[in-house]
Amino acid sequence: MNISVTGIGITKFGELWGVSPRSMAHEACEAALVDAGLDPSDIDCLIIANMLSGMLGAQEHLGAFFSEELDFFHIPSYKVEGACASGGLAVHTAINSLLGGEYTRVMVLGIEKMTDHKPELVSSALMGAGTNEERLSGLTFPGAYAILAKAHMERYKTTEEQLASVAVKNHYHASLNPKAQFHSLLTVEKVMHSACVADPLRLLDCSPISDGAAAVILQNTENGKRKTEVQIIASQVATDTLGVAQRKSLTTLKATEVAAQKAYRQAHILPKDIQVAEVHDCFTIAEILAMEDLGFFEKGKAAPALVRGETTLGSKQLVVNTSGGLKGCGHPVGATGVKQIVEITQQLRGSAGKRQVNGARIGLTHNVGGSGGTCVVHILKGI
Ligand code: COA
Repeated sequence: MNISVTGIGITKFGELWGVSPRSMAHEACEAALVDAGLDPSDIDCLIIANMLSGMLGAQEHLGAFFSEELDFFHIPSYKVEGACASGGLAVHTAINSLLGGEYTRVMVLGIEKMTDHKPELVSSALMGAGTNEERLSGLTFPGAYAILAKAHMERYKTTEEQLASVAVKNHYHASLNPKAQFHSLLTVEKVMHSACVADPLRLLDCSPISDGAAAVILQNTENGKRKTEVQIIASQVATDTLGVAQRKSLTTLKATEVAAQKAYRQAHILPKDIQVAEVHDCFTIAEILAMEDLGFFEKGKAAPALVRGETTLGSKQLVVNTSGGLKGCGHPVGATGVKQIVEITQQLRGSAGKRQVNGARIGLTHNVGGSGGTCVVHILKGI
């Protein structure tokens, strides 16, 4: 696949009370254009990743909304939605439209504004990603992942301390990321003494409610056009049942396994070839599931390895969620999958500053919608 990441831009993630979606979009997209050395007129298509603007902001029709706002008049522009995997799906859609030959450069903008609304409204809006039965029974996403956590604890003897270690690692990485929502360091004890949200998940096991935007410019480098230093070498999507109750297994996200296996085949690599990964840790258990379902560790082996520091900055094997992940960097849902591409691009360019994984050449992004109904995996390579 001859797809280059030509430009990246990102806002700070967090509670951005005084910042509108319009200004977040300007900041992320203009940074990406400057990074790529391009003008708006160089962009052939704008794809917006977003989940909640209709439900929370009463604003749909984001393609026209943002193409007007950003002076991208008259180019094709539309929204892609796949719950928390909207960002990854939008990148996948951009790649396919580039491979179709119609466009040379596509900009993807991931954006979400969540903190202006009451948490209970945001929680029920997020449950738009679940089934009717889940909504009617009062399930929330912390509740859905608590069910997965309980199953993993029962089958693999995973402990609450091990779950807490995910939050400790990701807050440490976030403390090194100026764009992250949280810069506070955590301890296992602090996580385990935070308020219980859905047993066994506590406040500090959860990703937060966040605002933020991220943008990438992707370019088709077919026909001898100059390749940039970061290429996307695999882009795969898989789906599974929308609801948790319909799954054959509660200790595996099948969509992750399927998307990952297809991505490794497409990239002609194995999981051991990856040095840096951004995985979808919407709750601490989600990172442990991801590590196993992506093939980095055997089932039941990810949590002990994480506690041993095998995925923390400084590890020689594989570093996971250098941005701080969803847990520490924040989770403005439509922006998350695009932010993952921004972070891995910085790692492969060698421009990640204090978060740099030395010698990173191949990176992976893993973006999940709902409780595993959609999964998007990208593999990127530095040249
Ligand atoms: N991690 C770390 N700190 C957090 C946090 C989190 N996830 N969520 C809130 N905080 C902090 C806040 O900054 C605040 O600190 P302060 O008092 O120093 O300002 C404090 O904890 C209380 O925050 P508050 O906003 O009152 O929390 P809340 O009770 O309204 O919401 C959750 C907490 C966990 C319920 C909410 O963040 C949530 O629903 N997260 C999951 C989001 C989700 O489901 N996403 C989709 C995934 S599939």
